[in-house]
Amino acid sequence: MTLQVRDLRQHFGGVQALRGLSFEINAGECVALIGPNGAGKSTAFACIAGQQRAARGEVWWAGARLDLLSPAQRLARGVARTFQVAQTFEALSVLENVQLLLQAPQGLSAWRRLDRAPQDRARVLLQRVGLLALADADVLSLPYGAKKLLELALALAGLPPAPAQRLLLLDEPAAGLSGAERSDLMGLVKSLAHEQAGAGMAVLYSEHNMDAVFGVADRVLVLIDGQLVAQGTAGEIAQNETVRSRYLGRAGADGSRIKSGMTTGGSGMTSSGSGMTSSGSGMTASGSGAAEGGIGVSAVTPAPMLSVQNLKVWYGAAQALFDVSLQVGAGELLVLQGLNGAGKTTLLHAIMGLAARVTGAISYQDQSITTWPAHQRAQAGIGLVAEDRRLFVDLSVRENLRLAARGDVPATEEWVLGLFPALKTMLHRPAAQMSGGEQQMLAIARTLMTQPRLLLLDEPCEGIAPVLVENIVAALLLLKAQGTALLVAEQNNILAQRADRVITLVAGQLRI
Ligand SMILES: Nc1ncnc2c1ncn2[C@@H]1O[C@H](COP(=O)(O)OP(=O)(O)OP(=O)(O)O)[C@@H](O)[C@H]1O
Ligand SMILES: [Mg+2]
Repeated sequence: MTLQVRDLRQHFGGVQALRGLSFEINAGECVALIGPNGAGKSTAFACIAGQQRAARGEVWWAGARLDLLSPAQRLARGVARTFQVAQTFEALSVLENVQLLLQAPQGLSAWRRLDRAPQDRARVLLQRVGLLALADADVLSLPYGAKKLLELALALAGLPPAPAQRLLLLDEPAAGLSGAERSDLMGLVKSLAHEQAGAGMAVLYSEHNMDAVFGVADRVLVLIDGQLVAQGTAGEIAQNETVRSRYLGRAGADGSRIKSGMTTGGSGMTSSGSGMTSSGSGMTASGSGAAEGGIGVSAVTPAPMLSVQNLKVWYGAAQALFDVSLQVGAGELLVLQGLNGAGKTTLLHAIMGLAARVTGAISYQDQSITTWPAHQRAQAGIGLVAEDRRLFVDLSVRENLRLAARGDVPATEEWVLGLFPALKTMLHRPAAQMSGGEQQMLAIARTLMTQPRLLLLDEPCEGIAPVLVENIVAALLLLKAQGTALLVAEQNNILAQRADRVITLVAGQLRI
């Protein structure tokens, strides 16, 4: 065995993140580590790569004990990782980022200028991850998905060459990528392990998108509450009752599907468990004209809540959006699709008032808001859940929620926490001490505290366990039923199937 993880335990104060995790991985294997949000996946990566020292247990790699070494020492021995939220050098270009990592083993010095460093190896690596066309771009301006690709190139650049045995740990490598891009990247990840099996490369990755697991992973490890509960092929795992009910959800053994009979009572909506039900007025998600499972024009012609005319947006001299026009009505759900970098985030930012150079007209509830600053748009009822979450990381869950709150705070908070029961158990925890998926839940919950009339969401299901994706989709349908206008950039098809319309951005232009 190349990697042996033995009885790993880790805790943060009273939170038990790993409770005796043991598994093994061979060279040439491509292994997926899956499990609910907060299961301990990122913690396991940190303990293997050295960002954290486990409270107990051992990590053995290529015949030697690893867990007492620093991250740099582990990297020199062939263990590299990427992070759930991409870590790159933002002040440098894409090419310079890779050059920097390639030079790292020789040590960095002021005498060894990056711009004179050989570019060939860096370009080969960028070609490998599909980023060569962006070699000279500033990392700061890269779309999020491209940053994830760059991170992979950086992890590869840091590894010693064969014959050293190498282990790549990838924490949600395909986050922020569209379906086609995701399958390209996962194909690459798989080939890294398989092609270089003889050269001793192994890959361990976490993912919540099952299409990045099926057909990719040779073996799947399932972590729940810090313990390995199952392992096997993807097909075997999909049949496992515990995995189905605790993680996969929709196809779950108990048949727990999103119920279309969600009802709401009073001013707040309440929920229980994973399906949202409550007694009350009997309003259902499908009762206000939701297109049942269809992609098409809504049966009801809703009053326009948002109207965008000939929107153009620039970053410096580069134009990102070209004459985008669209309308979203009250109670309408529009899903926005497109490749990484097509302009989805830019469009949502422009509507929220966060884009620097914009022309065209934006109106909201029949008022022109084109020149309004972002805070005025927020006060008028426009809410954005940003892709990068933008939480106050030193503040607790409750403080993050209360800061945003408007209207009847206790009722709204109760409803919002009902949507994300996991948050209820960590109300006093600083956001910095939450798992990636837990932070994503908080980002959505916080925006819902503002009771928006027009809700803009940028990849809300990214990093969320499948079982919880159902909750989020159900929550959005409930908001829609209550007349909220929703514009959602989302790759997950479950949402697209429930949308009134799906629109696609291609290189900054709308294809309807
Ligand atoms: N710095 C920290 N302080 C306190 N608790 C933490 C800290 N980091 C993580 N946790 C907790 O440890 C547990 C495991 O978190 P971890 O980030 O490993 O989960 P994960 O499986 O990667 O989840 P996700 O799928 O959401 O990324 C969670 O309960 C989380 O809230
Ligand atoms: Mg994680």
